[in-house]
Amino acid sequence: MKILVTGANRGLGLELTKLFLKEGHEVAAGMRAGSNSEALDSLKREYLDRLEIIHLDMVDEATMVHSADLIRSQWGSLDVIINNAGILLGRSRKFDQLDLEELIASFKVNTFGPMMLIKHLAGLMEGSESPMIINITSGAANDLGGSDYPYSLSKATLNMYSAKLNNYLKEAGIRVLAIHPGWIKTDMGGEKAPGSPETTARNILDIIEGRLQIYDDLVFINHTGVGL
Ligand SMILES: NC(=O)c1ccc[n+]([C@@H]2O[C@H](COP(=O)([O-])OP(=O)(O)OC[C@H]3O[C@@H](n4cnc5c(N)ncnc54)[C@H](OP(=O)(O)O)[C@@H]3O)[C@@H](O)[C@H]2O)c1
Repeated sequence: MKILVTGANRGLGLELTKLFLKEGHEVAAGMRAGSNSEALDSLKREYLDRLEIIHLDMVDEATMVHSADLIRSQWGSLDVIINNAGILLGRSRKFDQLDLEELIASFKVNTFGPMMLIKHLAGLMEGSESPMIINITSGAANDLGGSDYPYSLSKATLNMYSAKLNNYLKEAGIRVLAIHPGWIKTDMGGEKAPGSPETTARNILDIIEGRLQIYDDLVFINHTGVGL
């Protein structure tokens, strides 16, 4: 399969990229220009023909248009889009301490970025045998606690967008899922996280390859396929 992963240079995105390559898939690994690309560069040496490293910034629509052009010319089509890039800001602020810039930045990366990327890439999925769009969300989207507004609300909106899109793209045969990866050991999740990005990546691969079946009416699930 031909798979695009955003935020592929570290954390869950890097684990997904490594696993997909190991299992024989072709990967377009999106990362911001100027970010640390060491891990992807070393994968490129190993998987010269199946890895494309693409400069893709989730707050810059021009890089999305460029990515679509690149994939069209290199591959001609796409089977899976994984919107994985995300940021976590202002987690402890209460409603009366909110910072507008943190709210805007969170929605730009976690919500609007995936929406605009899908706008430019979905056309490439026509003709795919098992097209799938996966938006990596968070259980925090359902959190009714008194803080975490930027992250929680940006992911909640991403979930609603995923549900709307899934409903609309059903006829075209494109499955849309919003997957919570669990609390995992990455820069974002921290050292105390109980889960590993390797296990989550393996479960996401099982979903993509159809070994883990998801009920038709589910959109917001965890990485083991359970509805949230
Ligand atoms: N870790 C957890 O416990 C956990 C729990 C629930 C949900 N999630 C979700 O899982 C996904 C992956 O998280 P993670 O734990 O792997 O986080 P991470 O280790 O902090 O990695 C985040 C990735 O997103 C990229 N990114 C941030 N802003 C970007 C932008 N404007 N354009 C392109 N890429 C950008 C980062 O690239 P740079 O290197 O350029 O910054 C990095 O590759 C996120 O959507 C997160 O919300 C994680």
